[in-house]
Amino acid sequence: MAAQPPEGLVNLLLYGAPGSGKGTQANVLRAYFRIPHIATGDMLRAEIAAGTELGLQAQPILAAGKYVSDEIMIGMIRNRLRQPDCDPGFIIDGFPRTVPQAAALDDLMRELGRAFDRVIYLKVPVEELLQRLSGRLVCPRCQRTYPPGTAACAIHGTPLVQREDDKPEAVRPRIEIYLEKTVPVLDHYRGEGLVSEIDGRGTIEEISRQVLAAANGKVKAQ
Ligand code: AP5
Ligand code: MG
Repeated sequence: MAAQPPEGLVNLLLYGAPGSGKGTQANVLRAYFRIPHIATGDMLRAEIAAGTELGLQAQPILAAGKYVSDEIMIGMIRNRLRQPDCDPGFIIDGFPRTVPQAAALDDLMRELGRAFDRVIYLKVPVEELLQRLSGRLVCPRCQRTYPPGTAACAIHGTPLVQREDDKPEAVRPRIEIYLEKTVPVLDHYRGEGLVSEIDGRGTIEEISRQVLAAANGKVKAQ
């Protein structure tokens, strides 16, 4: 990995199934490029934790492993990408999850005069996703994810908890809705020649090396 990130804007999209490692690899990209990690799932969980009206509405939807409406999610991302911390670039994780969300994001990127440099697709078989999600632990404070057996957050020292939607009854529906509604989104970006597909199995460090190479444009898009 190069010591210094390249100069200029970097707009990245992380794509993959629940449990494929988007959040894990976003932390590496965020530290390297020093740009915000915009994760719609984290934003929704923050609304739930704060007890806002949106949080109250979203809580049962997340707990059941279903999707929040396109209208709400598009509004959320429109507001977020206009914040000044996004000026040097951003890493989006968890959006778009439906074809209408992808179309809305195209419009928004055009309005902002920006374009994605790369869509990084972390490909992991379903059996491994199920195994990872059932054992995953998260920091309730910063939402960083950790593998099974970890006791506390490396940053905050907070005891780790299980995410509500990692309970067995929500995991299958999450994978099923991903296969039905989110898999078609990849074709949208493949058509634009933006997708770098990475085998998401292996050590986190091995995958980070490939993710950084793709983000730096060393891995050809398919
Ligand atoms: P969201 O928070 O986006 O969840 P997700 O897509 O289901 O993805 P996850 O966060 O579960 O997995 P990840 O890919 O980040 O994997 P991680 O790095 O943690 O969304 C949650 C919910 O919000 C949705 O279900 C929906 O209800 C709603 N929502 C959000 N956006 C929406 C939208 N746009 N439209 C509608 N609704 C929306 O890794 C997983 C585990 O694996 C961890 O334990 C990690 O340590 C481990 N791990 C990572 N890499 C490896 C590796 N290489 N080997 C072994 N273990 C690994
Ligand atoms: Mg995540």
